[in-house]
Amino acid sequence: MKLADLRTDYKMASLDESDVAASPFTQFNVWFSDATKAEVPEPNAMTLATCDANGRPSARVVLIKDFDERGMVFFTNYQSRKGQDLAANNRAALLFFWPELERQIRIEGRVETVSAADSDAYYQSRPALSRIGAWASPQSQVLPSRNALEARFAAFSAEHGENPPRPAHWGGYRVVPSFFEFWQGRRSRLHDRICYRLAESKWKLERLAP
Ligand SMILES: Cc1cc2nc3c(=O)[nH]c(=O)nc-3n(C[C@H](O)[C@H](O)[C@H](O)COP(=O)(O)O)c2cc1C
Repeated sequence: MKLADLRTDYKMASLDESDVAASPFTQFNVWFSDATKAEVPEPNAMTLATCDANGRPSARVVLIKDFDERGMVFFTNYQSRKGQDLAANNRAALLFFWPELERQIRIEGRVETVSAADSDAYYQSRPALSRIGAWASPQSQVLPSRNALEARFAAFSAEHGENPPRPAHWGGYRVVPSFFEFWQGRRSRLHDRICYRLAESKWKLERLAP
């Protein structure tokens, strides 16, 4: 099989300016519930792209844990590579791809940390082993071996027991969007792309060429 011959013709649905909500957050909510109903595997998995101080990009998958009119929230290690990128450059992009619905959502904006109270609340809701994991993993740093990680896990487990406090280096970020794009695959590559751009505190709707 030649990679170049792999192609899908999208034909499930369409997206018109008259179909979408005035608020991109409402539209996101509609598409997110569609993805959940369609049983898309891990609909909450999104690609997060960041850039370091020199403009060098990197991308990875994280889980969206909350969203409202303020933005999209995920949790991570503030000292990780993405954390260092965001400290140097607080602009980020998010991407959802739901092939079962032939849909993609792109979101761009600035990033802020969520409040310590919100990070505490989410941290405390996590399973005990994940809470210890946040202590044990110096995320993105080089490890000498798998054993070294497991030894750290055992040591932090012994130190904190069942109820570890949230490590100061672990918490939430919120992507505060200024751009959304909703992409619906169509026949013959004539896809629908409806985007929202924030201009003077108002969302402006535009159709982009596919
Ligand atoms: C499905 C999936 C979900 C993930 N969710 C998270 C997450 O919510 N937070 C996180 O820090 N890493 C998550 N990861 C791991 C990241 O992709 C990445 O490996 C890690 O955050 C380190 O990235 P960095 O070195 O660029 O900072 C997830 C990975 C996958 C495949």
